[in-house]
Amino acid sequence: MSYGQTVENDVSVSSNRWSDADGGRAYLRALPVLRGTGLAFEVDEAPADPVSLFATWLQQAVDADVPEPHAMTISTVDAQGMPRARVLIVKAVDEAGWHFAVSSVSQKGRDLAANPAAALTFYWPALVRQVRVVGTVVSDGAKASADDFRARPLGSRAMALTLRQSQPLHDVTELDTEIDKAQRRLSDEPDLVPDEWISYAVRPNEVEFWQGSPDRRHRRLAYYRVDGGWDRAQLWP
Ligand SMILES: Cc1cc2nc3c(=O)[nH]c(=O)nc-3n(C[C@H](O)[C@H](O)[C@H](O)COP(=O)(O)O)c2cc1C
Repeated sequence: MSYGQTVENDVSVSSNRWSDADGGRAYLRALPVLRGTGLAFEVDEAPADPVSLFATWLQQAVDADVPEPHAMTISTVDAQGMPRARVLIVKAVDEAGWHFAVSSVSQKGRDLAANPAAALTFYWPALVRQVRVVGTVVSDGAKASADDFRARPLGSRAMALTLRQSQPLHDVTELDTEIDKAQRRLSDEPDLVPDEWISYAVRPNEVEFWQGSPDRRHRRLAYYRVDGGWDRAQLWP
C-alpha cells in the first residue's frame, strides 16, 4: 500500500461552484478526499490491546498538527431508538475506557440514562485516519465526576450549572441572567459540583483502526473484546 499519492479526484475546485440545480452534486463530487499523508500501519506489529495503539495514533495526530485531535463524535440512542451524534472532547483513555463528561439534563445525558451505550468516532484527516470505538457506558462515580467538573474553566462550569443544556432557548437575555447567577453561585461556593454532572467511560467491546489510502486499499484492524483480552482481525476495506 502506498500513501500520500495524488488522489484521482484531487482537482481544483476554484472554478467549480455550488449549484442549487443539482443540490451541489457536481461540486461535492469534485471536492478532494483522503488528501492527508498516511503513515505506515503494520497491522502484524500492532499491540495486543487497543488502548496503547490509540495512544500512539493520538500522539502521531498531535505531532502532525491535527487540530483538536482529542475531539470525537459521540453517538447515542434515545429511549425511542433515535440516534444522535455530536462532538465532545475525550478526557482520558485507560483500561476502563474512553472517558468524557456530560450533564444528565442534556439530550446526550438523557440518551445515556435510557441506553447506556455509545459509539465514538475520531477522524484525523492529515493522517487519513479514523478510529471507531463501540461499547457500554458506565459512570466513573461521584469523585471522578466532581474532579472533572472542578477542573473545568469557570465559564464552562457556570454554563453547566444552569442545568438547561439542550432545552429550547426562548430569550437570549435569559441566558445572560442564568450564567450571571451561576457565576455568583460558583464564586460563593467554588467547590460546588452539581449532581447532574457525570463523568462516564465507554468500556469498549470493539475498537477499529482505519488507515486510509488514496488507492482505496485502506487498512483496517478491529479489536474485539473476549474473555481476558482482545481478539484482532483485519477487515476488508
Ligand atoms: C470541539 C467541540 C467541543 C465540544 N465540547 C463540549 C463539551 O465539553 N461539553 C458539552 O456539553 N458540549 C460540547 N460541545 C458541544 C456538543 O457537540 C453538543 O452541541 C452539546 O453538548 C449538546 O449536545 P446534546 O444536545 O446532544 O446533549 C463541543 C462541540 C465541539 C465542536
